[in-house]
Amino acid sequence: MIIARTILETKNYLKSHCTKTIGFVPTMGALHNGHIELIKRAVNENEISVCSVFVNPTQFNNPDDLKKYPRTLEADLLLLEAAGCDLVFAPSAEEMYSQNPILKLDFGDLEHIMEGEFRPGHFNGVGIVVSKLFHIVKPTKAYFGQKDIQQVAVINRLINDLSFDLEMVVCETIRENDGLAMSSRNRRLSDDARKLAPKIYESLLLGKKLLQEGNSPDNTFSKIKEYYDNIEEIELEYYKITSAESLAELSNFDPKNKTALILAAYLDGVRLIDNLIF
Ligand code: PAJ
Repeated sequence: MIIARTILETKNYLKSHCTKTIGFVPTMGALHNGHIELIKRAVNENEISVCSVFVNPTQFNNPDDLKKYPRTLEADLLLLEAAGCDLVFAPSAEEMYSQNPILKLDFGDLEHIMEGEFRPGHFNGVGIVVSKLFHIVKPTKAYFGQKDIQQVAVINRLINDLSFDLEMVVCETIRENDGLAMSSRNRRLSDDARKLAPKIYESLLLGKKLLQEGNSPDNTFSKIKEYYDNIEEIELEYYKITSAESLAELSNFDPKNKTALILAAYLDGVRLIDNLIF
């Protein structure tokens, strides 16, 4: 496995080694099985697999979150090597941003809902860094997790609006045995918080059940709110009942259409997101 710290090394390696297909998984490191499943697919489906590990400062709207974001490059490299990854691109912030970008990306309605609303500027940062990475790696296929459902929608638009010549592959959310969605941020949870964390996924299962039993979205939301009011340690930021296609909020539930329940919550000062599609 090659570890490249610079854009030039990465481009040169890919130019000299790749004849057909490149599978690419962008990450911010602190890798877990959710990431590794994406890597394994990239390895299986392409001639060359590339993973980037870069904690992108421009997508953090909260400086404290950026400071506390776990960085575990050595352990990440071991996991990537074991998964069969060919090239890891792990640049410094200076390497990625020799100049601070002045370009701004605006993803329209997606900017005003959920992550867009609560993390202003986040998707601009994601869009810019992913565009830069796509230009550097020139992947045939790029792999993203369903866990970040709104990011999937944003990257879809990015690929379409800027005509990136690649296929986006969306992979299901990988969970711990107790249902908690795997996340790099989970390792910041105290033992007590970790024990409570599966309540977040349980609230998605509860929402699904309530809707399928005939409750309206409004009624379901009220019951979910009550559920969280009874768990002092978890602070719900949002819980949305949306169309899985457009991510627009639903006023009626129709089991024939794909629905997504999408939430963000703070536990122990750690911001966690999750979703369920059915
Ligand atoms: P990061 O949070 O490291 O996630 C990298 C990729 O792994 C994303 O596509 C994310 O959706 C996926 N992923 C995370 N947890 C997962 C899980 N439990 N199951 C399946 N997939 C999971 O997302 C980012 O980094 C950044 O925004 C990035 C795209 C790299 C741009 O900086």
